Amino acid sequence: MTLTPEPDHIPVLLAEVVEALAPKDKGTYLDGTFGAGGYTVAILDAAACVVWAIDRDPEALSSGEALFARYPDRLHLVHGRFGDMVDLLGSRGVSGVDGIALDLGVSSMQIDDRARGFSFLRDGPLDMRMEKSGRSAADVVNTLSEKELADIIFLYGEERHARRVARAIVEGRRERPFSRTLHLADVIRSEVRRANDGIDPATRTFQALRIYVNDELGELERGLRGAERMLRPGGVLAVVSFHSLEDRIVKTFLRARSGAAIRPSRHTPASLGGATSVATFKPLSRRPITPTDHETATNPRARSARLRIAERTAAPLLTTVAGGLA
Ligand SMILES: C[S@@+](CC[C@H](N)C(=O)[O-])C[C@H]1O[C@@H](n2cnc3c(N)ncnc32)[C@H](O)[C@@H]1O
Repeated sequence: MTLTPEPDHIPVLLAEVVEALAPKDKGTYLDGTFGAGGYTVAILDAAACVVWAIDRDPEALSSGEALFARYPDRLHLVHGRFGDMVDLLGSRGVSGVDGIALDLGVSSMQIDDRARGFSFLRDGPLDMRMEKSGRSAADVVNTLSEKELADIIFLYGEERHARRVARAIVEGRRERPFSRTLHLADVIRSEVRRANDGIDPATRTFQALRIYVNDELGELERGLRGAERMLRPGGVLAVVSFHSLEDRIVKTFLRARSGAAIRPSRHTPASLGGATSVATFKPLSRRPITPTDHETATNPRARSARLRIAERTAAPLLTTVAGGLA
């Protein structure tokens, strides 16, 4: 008999993430995207350690409570956003951790539940809020200007036909405001032809709206800065991203933070100057780690996944070195 129900979400790059974090007995780890708990369970099974797991989706956390019995005193579930990790854990007496995992985006449970409104294949309310609160996707498409919609669809969906889609949305909502996913998907499909790659034309616009509604890129930036604060020297950050916008943010952040000594500005007081190395991270792999052919064959969600890993150095935060904002 197994203690956990069969998860609907197959964790992506699980072995690689756990290998990178190398959990140790008595260590403290942070899983910023609990989801179905795949990473959390693997970390807890790898060592006699403690895991603090955050998820912004209250439903994900309620399902996770079943794990308390299996890991008494070792698992802590926290509702909130990983972008707020410093405050969320700080207010619970945790100021440093030995490893952090972020597995970005939505889970299969969220996509598959039509009531959550993420899917352009199954009809449901046009919602897309991971937190189940705040502004929904319907609010966004029914109220933003055509220009704002076009910008969002272009920027976050990398949709070449963003203007055309935005125009169709604004015309469509005059007739009937959007409240269902398939209504929106049909309007998009009537404007954008299916490309040779077979990808549904609604994919990019739905991605854009989801990213915007949940401020996913802002969260990622805040999460990376939070990780820089929370990780103890030697602690590892592992981030799995699923599209180029996310991966670019992670790559740029790690590149900036792992640069050689930053030349102090001539305005920096001499006492703070000198050849201070401010590299707070050391990348552990030059290129992003991608799933094996076997993994992509058995889990289609893994296809676009990219894992970047880096180790926190002992360097203090830039704020404390140069007095400015990092
Ligand atoms: C891809 S799933 C994680 C799956 C997990 N690694 C597993 O193995 O089951 C992403 C999860 O992260 C949550 N999430 C996404 N962005 C978040 C954020 N900024 N803060 C907290 N949770 C977030 C989503 O609600 C979702 O449950």
